[in-house]
Amino acid sequence: MSTYEELYAQSINNKEQFWLEAARDIHWDKFPATAVDADEPPFYRWFPDGRTNACYNAVDLHVENGRADQAAIIYDSSVTNQSAKITYRELQNRVANVAGMLQEHGVGMGDRVIVYMPMIPEAAIAMLACARIGAVHSVVFGGFAANELAVRIDDCKPKAILAASCGLEPGRTVEYKPLLDQGIEIANHKPDNCFIWQREQSPASMIEGRDHDWKEAESKATPADCIPVDSNHPLYILYTSGTTGAPKGVVRDTGGSIVSLKWTMKNIYNVDPGEVYWAASDVGWVVGHSYIVYAPLFHGNTTVLYEGKPVGTPDPGAFWRVISDHNVSVLFTAPTAFRAIKKEDPTGEYLKKYDLSNFRYLFLAGERCDPDTLKWAEEKLKVPVIDHWWQTETGWSIATNCAGIELLPIKTGSPTKAAPGYKLKVLDNEGNECNAGDIGALVVESPLPPGTFPTLWEAPERYVESYFSTFPGHYETGDAGYIDNDGYIFVMARTDDVINVAGHRLSTGAMEEVLAGHPDVAECAVMGAADNLKGQVPVGMLVLNSGCDRSDEDICKEVIQKVRSEIGPVAAFKSAVVVKRLPKTRSGKILRATMRSIADGAEWKMPATIDDPDILDEITESLASIGYPQST
Ligand code: COA
Ligand code: AMP
Repeated sequence: MSTYEELYAQSINNKEQFWLEAARDIHWDKFPATAVDADEPPFYRWFPDGRTNACYNAVDLHVENGRADQAAIIYDSSVTNQSAKITYRELQNRVANVAGMLQEHGVGMGDRVIVYMPMIPEAAIAMLACARIGAVHSVVFGGFAANELAVRIDDCKPKAILAASCGLEPGRTVEYKPLLDQGIEIANHKPDNCFIWQREQSPASMIEGRDHDWKEAESKATPADCIPVDSNHPLYILYTSGTTGAPKGVVRDTGGSIVSLKWTMKNIYNVDPGEVYWAASDVGWVVGHSYIVYAPLFHGNTTVLYEGKPVGTPDPGAFWRVISDHNVSVLFTAPTAFRAIKKEDPTGEYLKKYDLSNFRYLFLAGERCDPDTLKWAEEKLKVPVIDHWWQTETGWSIATNCAGIELLPIKTGSPTKAAPGYKLKVLDNEGNECNAGDIGALVVESPLPPGTFPTLWEAPERYVESYFSTFPGHYETGDAGYIDNDGYIFVMARTDDVINVAGHRLSTGAMEEVLAGHPDVAECAVMGAADNLKGQVPVGMLVLNSGCDRSDEDICKEVIQKVRSEIGPVAAFKSAVVVKRLPKTRSGKILRATMRSIADGAEWKMPATIDDPDILDEITESLASIGYPQST
């Protein structure tokens, strides 16, 4: 058996052979003769002459190979107290019918389809149905507001939208349909058809001529077959936060995704086909795309689709119940979920009620994992707890402990070492490699491995400019960190305006755009402040127009509501404070990093370039008045 070091070296020194070998593990309609087309850097194309189909690899292949009666999806909802199993055969029938329904309504190869759904099986069925016929899905997370939906509609111009009538958050029904109607109204582009999955908790009213009852249309449809596509055909577009309000449309190709995701299931997560794998995330995020839907199905696993929270639905034993009820082998979630459980059940009393004997690994990602949480999880669960680092852009982990190759000793605070395929470096501002232990920009030498993002949707210039221009020949991750003497990677902070709130990626720049749109706000800054539960939360600092005589409290309430209705509840923007001035450099740049250090209670130095040092005392007082820094 190869060790991690051997496999890693092969993946870097002999990447073509490494990935062509991995490519043999999936079904191709035409096996690729070429591993990677490197004619147009940084636009690398993996398996350029291959042809395959993602839905076939996820569903039909397993029906043909003896898994027809195995559960493909276990739907478990702790908000409706429902649980259901869908076998691979049943999944094939449903996906084929939904694909047929789309085809009958004019959706074909390359057409985009937006999926705006809560965590119900139909979300996965919608994605797979698109892949079946070469349509390109773009899932929009349910916690985004109509305006965010509209931005995505205008960018990817979907022919159809698949949505549910409602989502269920603890204590609140999220009416998706009015949000959908509003989103379409705001957008310039209009989809031809919308298919609405009516949930009994809150059925929606339909718009004649545009909206269809999904269940009814699906039942009448003629099943569609899988259509092989070029390996580089886009499987999906997933929008993610960047520096500005305009989200980036991350594109994922087909062949590279199937090969890499299938490879990760054994090599990183160490699961075998037939086992139950659970990613407790949401289909609206990259983790949901890769590890709720595609990877476990490519590998012939049973995937758990969980509608609920780690706490409060009904108690902090929710995750243990799901693991025990469904015999889960591997759980993947965000550290914030464990912080929530630990906070409510610090001694792990709820764990004692459940049989977790089949549970083997906990994987964490989405934000920096604090050592306390990692240690707590290790101690309570008595299984390896593996922090791994990845991004929407990469689709799978950049750094991880490859449990299926060789479990390396765990160092808290580190996602271990670079995953095979990623030639990771730490560079200083001049582009020179940093010494071990020195912080710099975390970058990956091109080409990125298969399954990462070949481009941004209809924005190739933005792809080059955002990711490949600072350090030519390298992908700039946007994270800063260091590599220690043993080769362990430490991811410390973002180098841009992106923050991670409860494992959700958000842009402070986008929130500033919303605040700046308030008529009484002259200037503003939003920063991520350390939060005991969510890791980070956004905090807004507002400078009001001179002469404004309205109360600070009213204006703060209004901007909080404005972010909620324009970006969505997921922004978790609940703290704003009015200040007289913002601290700036003499050239007028707002000193966000210094304010963030004050909000975090971290040590900070007076910036040499500050125009007026006294402002920082005012900022410290204002932040204290809204509870920052938080007491631990
Ligand atoms: N549709 C509509 N609204 C949603 C939503 C969805 N799919 N998901 C979240 N929201 C809403 C929440 O109801 C909440 O609204 P509120 O302000 O009215 O309370 C708001 O968005 C913020 O959500 P969140 O930050 O997730 O906070 P929470 O208090 O609901 O839950 C955790 C906190 C830690 C329990 C939860 O974030 C969690 O389980 N996270 C870990 C798993 C995960 O999602 N990982 C993602 C990447 S791996
Ligand atoms: P997303 O695109 O939503 O997956 O968010 C990606 C970002 O989350 C990364 O750029 C990091 O800033 C952060 N992140 C994800 N996983 C980790 C991790 N294991 N450790 C530290 N930061 C992480």
